[in-house]
Amino acid sequence: MVPANTGTEAVEAAIKIARAATGRSRVLYAEHAFHGLTLGSLSINGNTEFREGFGPFLPGCDPIPFGDLEALERQLARGDVATFVVEPVQGKGVNLPAADYLAAAQRLCREAGALFTCDEVQTGVGRTGRFLALEHWGLEPDLICLAKALSGGLVPIGALLVSRPAFDRVFDGMERAVRHGSTFGGNDLAAAAALATLRVLDREGLVARAERLGDLLLELTRPLVDRFEVVREVRGLGLMWAIEFGPPAGLTSRKLWQAVEERQPGLFSQLVTVPLFHEHRILCQVAGHRMNVIKALPALTIEEDEVRRFAEALAQTISEAERYPAALARFGLRTGLRAARVRR
Ligand SMILES: Cc1ncc(COP(=O)(O)O)c(C=O)c1O
Repeated sequence: MVPANTGTEAVEAAIKIARAATGRSRVLYAEHAFHGLTLGSLSINGNTEFREGFGPFLPGCDPIPFGDLEALERQLARGDVATFVVEPVQGKGVNLPAADYLAAAQRLCREAGALFTCDEVQTGVGRTGRFLALEHWGLEPDLICLAKALSGGLVPIGALLVSRPAFDRVFDGMERAVRHGSTFGGNDLAAAAALATLRVLDREGLVARAERLGDLLLELTRPLVDRFEVVREVRGLGLMWAIEFGPPAGLTSRKLWQAVEERQPGLFSQLVTVPLFHEHRILCQVAGHRMNVIKALPALTIEEDEVRRFAEALAQTISEAERYPAALARFGLRTGLRAARVRR
């Protein structure tokens, strides 16, 4: 294990260790990926809105479409790839992999002599109903990035789990023992918080609970697809959940939707998140820039009646947002009033 202080630091460590362990320099990553915002992690960030203005990036970092095994195979065939870094479920957009994608990606990496890295900074530590999301597909990556929930979200922490062969190739002897590290990585406070977190996860059975309540959340919210024209899809794994919106079928409301979205892509999502927060005191977020996807990552300690309250509040909010002109007017009024208050 290589200790770190944040998720992005764990990813930086993965890039360095993959390069040193393989003697190769290229790093592959998925389009729409998010791995953090320091320069190495940003070099494998698949979202232009985060990258713009910060280049040039690390050379040899190349994107491939998430889920496209042929593209991965083509890149690996060049024989110069140190690692493919991938989130088991993409945090931006909550994109779930096809059933066989990750296992096949791992196999292709192995065959090509590249390391397979799972970034579990968001999906790890119980979030998806397994301690690590990779357990859903029986993966055994060479490198695993952890952070966020590892300390219960309270103390800055990060960790890179490294396979024994890769670790031994990089830290091979006294002189090389301190090749990578940082002053506070693995500090006592973070370690104590992580140990306490792991104890609570076990004692309270929070991982199994995430699976059970995640299933309930999907069961309660999937019917929204049939109930509302604007709901395209509801998806999730454990307590990592998202709802995607799209234009309504009616000609007039569709035209209005398109006109508004052309000027402000992703605005419909705000017609849901803002009233959810103001009227129901429920905080969720849009799952990325310029997309009509809302995402919820509730605490693993959430109660069943809170899941039910969320599903009801969501249905009520969507039915109001679907009456588009009125919802837009309310949204504009609220935003305008707030701006006026800030100016005063
Ligand atoms: C998948 C993933 N990797 C890395 C990071 C970066 O973590 P941090 O913000 O702790 O640097 C994040 C943060 O959201 C993330 O979701």
